[in-house]
Amino acid sequence: MFHHVDHPIIRERLTQIRSVDSETPAFRHALHDVARLMCFSVTADLETETTEVETPLKKTEGHTLSRPVVLVPILRAGVGMMQGFAEILTEASVGYIGLYRDEETHQPHAYYCKLPDHTAASDVILIDPMLATGGSAADAADELKKAGATRIRFACLIAAPEGVSAFEERHPDIPIYAAALDEKLNENAYIVPGLGDAGDRYFGT
Ligand code: PRP
Ligand code: URA
Repeated sequence: MFHHVDHPIIRERLTQIRSVDSETPAFRHALHDVARLMCFSVTADLETETTEVETPLKKTEGHTLSRPVVLVPILRAGVGMMQGFAEILTEASVGYIGLYRDEETHQPHAYYCKLPDHTAASDVILIDPMLATGGSAADAADELKKAGATRIRFACLIAAPEGVSAFEERHPDIPIYAAALDEKLNENAYIVPGLGDAGDRYFGT
């Protein structure tokens, strides 16, 4: 299931992120903001349990998340988006999956995977700003499932229609949340209009 996370402030920050005139500091700042704003929609259906809380006046009903949350950014660019989620989900654990796309074949290559021990028992949010061919996100989701995760959602900034189809074919059970669904991929499998290379722009490389 594809969810378009739309909000006036997200649209405004996304414009800054896309702009070729935004240098790394502005790019970083806007990406953190969008992630924080997206977090609200991405987590809207997390289950909660009823607890009791004592205010200065009396006891009343409170709520707590039913399961721990694990944030899993795909290296490198996912790290930038993860920051915003971690600022809201302050108790979330963080795992990392490292993948890079081969420049010729556009196929993802895995080079790192470190997930918390309780990943299987958690609500997992896989994070990467770009869903282009969908190969990186789908391979990362395979790793999460190998670790026993069953409650996974994928949050990205910009998705290409090709990536959405490819990801949904391999992982029909994982909802996709994106701030924008762009036109297409170009001949280098970059998203058009997109934002260019997310990792290079976020890390200033
Ligand atoms: C980018 C991006 C995704 C991937 C998306 O990473 O951050 O991980 O490409 O492409 P796909 O959907 O076609 O697989 P990249 O491989 O450039 O690595 P980097 O983040 O280390 O720069
Ligand atoms: N990776 C990026 O960083 N940008 C794209 O447009 C596609 C893949």
